Parts: sequence; C-alpha cells; structure tokens
Amino acid sequence: MSQMVDLVIFGGTGDLSTRKLLPALYQLHRDKLADRLQRIIATGRGAMDTAQFLLEAQKNLQRFLPADDWDDAVWDSFRERLHYVQLDANQPQHYAELAALLDQGETTSRLFYLATLPSLYGDICQQLKAAGAVNDACRVVLEKPLGHDLASCRTINEQVAAVFDEEATFRIDHYLGKETVQNLLALRFGNPLFHPMWNNTFINSVQITVAEEIGVAGRGSYYADTGALRDMVQNHLLQVLSLVAMEPPSSLKATDIRDEKMKVLRCLEPITLGNVKERTVRGRYAAGAVSGKAVKGFLEEDAFHDALNTETFVALKVGINNWRWAGVPFYLRTGKRLSRRYSEIVIEYRRQPFSLFANDPQELTNKLVIHLQPEESISLHTVNKKPGLTNKLRLKPVELHLTDDSQEKHSSYDAYERLLLDALHGDQTLFMRRDEVETAWHWIDSIIAAWDENGTPIKSYNAGTMGPNAATALVAVDGRSWHE
Ligand SMILES: NC(=O)c1ccc[n+]([C@@H]2O[C@H](COP(=O)([O-])OP(=O)(O)OC[C@H]3O[C@@H](n4cnc5c(N)ncnc54)[C@H](OP(=O)(O)O)[C@@H]3O)[C@@H](O)[C@H]2O)c1
Repeated sequence: MSQMVDLVIFGGTGDLSTRKLLPALYQLHRDKLADRLQRIIATGRGAMDTAQFLLEAQKNLQRFLPADDWDDAVWDSFRERLHYVQLDANQPQHYAELAALLDQGETTSRLFYLATLPSLYGDICQQLKAAGAVNDACRVVLEKPLGHDLASCRTINEQVAAVFDEEATFRIDHYLGKETVQNLLALRFGNPLFHPMWNNTFINSVQITVAEEIGVAGRGSYYADTGALRDMVQNHLLQVLSLVAMEPPSSLKATDIRDEKMKVLRCLEPITLGNVKERTVRGRYAAGAVSGKAVKGFLEEDAFHDALNTETFVALKVGINNWRWAGVPFYLRTGKRLSRRYSEIVIEYRRQPFSLFANDPQELTNKLVIHLQPEESISLHTVNKKPGLTNKLRLKPVELHLTDDSQEKHSSYDAYERLLLDALHGDQTLFMRRDEVETAWHWIDSIIAAWDENGTPIKSYNAGTMGPNAATALVAVDGRSWHE
C-alpha cells in the first residue's frame, strides 16, 4: 500500500460510525497521527450530499466526543477530509459512482471499512471488485459478528477471500485495541518476575468477566438470534483468554502472536453433552433496578417477547488441555443488566502450603487483577503485616498498583483509534486471523449443540445483580468465588 490511503466506511451513517469511528478519526486527525489518511468517504443509503452529511457529522461529534475535545479549528481541517456517497449495497450503479470518486483522488490505496450488516460483506466485496475499485494496495476491515456459527462464518470468509487476500483482511475485535490488553504482553513477557509463575504450578484459576449494565433495547431482532455466548464469548472473551494463556511468541510480529493464540484455541477442552451441565450456566434478566433505576426484564422488552431460547448471561468453566494450563480452570462470565459495567481478568495464585499466621489468610490469596474497563489498570493483591504491637503476627491485604500516570493518559485513547491506525499502517497484530475466528466458532457451536440436546434451562436473575445463583454455584463447587 502506498503512503496515502482513502478510507471508505460502509455504514458511515450507522451507530458504530457515529459513536466510535468518526470520533476516533477526529482524534487521530487532531493528534496528527492520521498522516497516511487522505479522504474519509462515508456511505449510507440516505439521499444526501456531503454538505448535509457534514452538518450531521458535526452535530454527532459534538455529542459523542469527550466534553473538552471539540475544537472549531480542528473541525475546520477535519471536515475537508470528509465526503459522503449515497450507496445501497444492492445497487451496482452506486459502486460505479463510488469508484469514479475514488479514481479522482491522488491515491490508489484504499481501506474499505465494513461497518454494516455482515450479511452484506460478501456482496460489497464482489461489487467493489466488479466496479474496478479494488487493487493490490487495498485492504478491508470487517466488523463483528462474523457469522452466527462456523458454517455462516466460513461463508463470509470465503466471499471476502474471493476479493481480498488474508494479508489484506482485518477482522476487528475492539477489545484487542485496549491499552491494557496490549499491556498484557508487556506484563507477561517483559517482566521476569511474572513469567516463571505463569503456569499451573503457581496459578490456581483465572477469571475473565465482562459485565454490562445496559440491556438489549435498541438491538432489534439481532440479539434474539444471538445471545451472550455468540455475542461476547465467541470473540471478546476468547480473544482475551488466548492472550492470557498463550506461550511466548518468537517475536512480536502479527504472525507469531496469532500462531500462539491459535494454539490456545485449539487446546480448549470441548464442552459437549457429557460435561455441559457442570461447565455452563445460562441466564436471562428479569425486571430489577440498575444504578437506582427500575428496568424491564428481557422478555418484556419490545422485540424480545418470543426470545425464550436467548440467554443474556453466560458463565463457563473452561479447561485448556496443554502442558502449561492442565488443571487450571478459566472461569468466564458475561451478561447484560448486571450490577455495574466492568471488565477484568483475575489471575489467582495458589496459596502457600502452610500458614504461619494468627489469622487465616483464606481470602487473602495473591491475585493479579487486570482491569479493562471502565478504567484500565493493573493491580497486584498481596498481604502485609497488620501494623501494631500485638504479639501475634497477623496479615492484612495490600494492593500494589502497577499503572503509572502516563499510562492512564494513554488509556484514554479509544480502542478504535489504535485499530484504525493499525489498519491504515497494515499491522494485523491486533486483528483476528481467519483460522482463529473459525476455531472459536467450532468450539462455541459444540456448546450450543450440547445446550439444545441437553435442554439446558435459562436461569432467571434480577436486573442489577451479578447473574443467576447458578453462576455462583459454578465456582463454589470448586471451592472458589467470583472476584467482585
Ligand atoms: N454499534 C456498535 O456499537 C457496534 C459494536 C461492535 C460491532 N458493531 C457492528 O458494526 C456493524 C454496524 O453496526 P451499527 O450498530 O452501526 O448498525 P446500524 O446503526 O444499524 O447502521 C447500519 C449501517 O449500515 C447501513 N446499511 C444498512 N443496510 C444497507 C444496505 N443495504 N446498503 C448500504 N448500507 C446499508 C446503514 O445505512 P443507512 O442507515 O443510511 O441506510 C447504516 O449506516 C454491525 O456489523 C455491528 O454488529 C457495532
């Protein structure tokens, strides 16, 4: 790809573009990081010209940028880059018009960002090719979800692969754009302190939680056919798990890191009819209160009355069958309408074999807690002597914070800024390779088949709690509790 790139956003009028992509592009422009970017061409079905689109874009940026980030001078230069093209994915003529606009530009390199319905991805790629808009210097970014199961994922991947090589295909998982997720690599492989203890000799269990306060209102029928397992575990949680569990890569190159993540995904112990009961919990929120506000239950939301087989919460006990992790459970949980919004990874270390102290340090195990949101930080939970003149030595918990001030500043960059920048520069490290996504779907499909065969019930939980009681029991039978 030559130096300068035109970015074309399919779905340029949609929610993702409005709330995330355009604000991220504005920030990159403001910070002079988007030096490779020439034009930003947003497309949508609506009949409007660029002037009308700019009015909308200005309004939306003022709404969705962090309060102090709007700057008239930055907008004046940013708007010069923005264009709008009316494009219905099913209208070949519209692609011809887009191709003509692209040909008028100074660059032949294009980044096509597909932020629209995944069912359109194959057609869009085909039509772009037919209109002569694709050349060897072009790349494509694909938003999730990539399919509904392995078969539909393969179909999309094959349709895209007929036009774009794998090296030109960037599958987004915005969790990978988070500063702290990347910091996992620095933590694990930059610190001799942690690396020798990153295995089943020292680690007792791992928890990964992605908790959301929001419900599903506004997500149309999409969520009814999806549920928490497909929507969150197949991508975000398995991506985070593979970064936590992977072996040291031979370099930080995209291929080496993605090879190691793939090995983890291949080692996931299958969940099938034989173990689905002990390994999984499905939940669905009933009415309750979140942040002091009464909210409806899932089945009371418009569009979800009939979604009786859709879970809004899932908890899993996952095994990784390899030398490093055999015997260490990875507990995953994610859900909607939980008590608060947060995502974290908790590495719990084994206890010392014998306690010398006057108080029982049962709950005072060492833990490394990696907070991914709302704030990004890392803390190490250790114990200290409880101060005082008593003759008995007692322990008390102490948290060591491993985040420095400058890191907090960088954490404020949105994941989409990082990922857009990487896609512009052609760096695939933080994007999912085809085999990763398909292997993850294969593992997820087995759980869904086992749920169907087993008739796994969906347990109710009140909105504003941390899921059904069965999720507590899932870890309690192993003598553990969720880190709250
Ligand atoms: N929203 C998020 O936070 C989020 C997060 C992660 C992933 N995603 C993924 O990102 C993609 C977009 O999501 P979204 O929430 O932005 O959806 P959305 O708000 O429904 O927007 C859909 C966009 O696609 C365009 N579109 C729909 N049908 C089209 C067609 N036949 N031809 C051309 N354009 C068409 C729409 O244009 P018009 O409205 O102008 O017709 C609109 O710009 C989806 O794959 C979604 O799963 C979204």
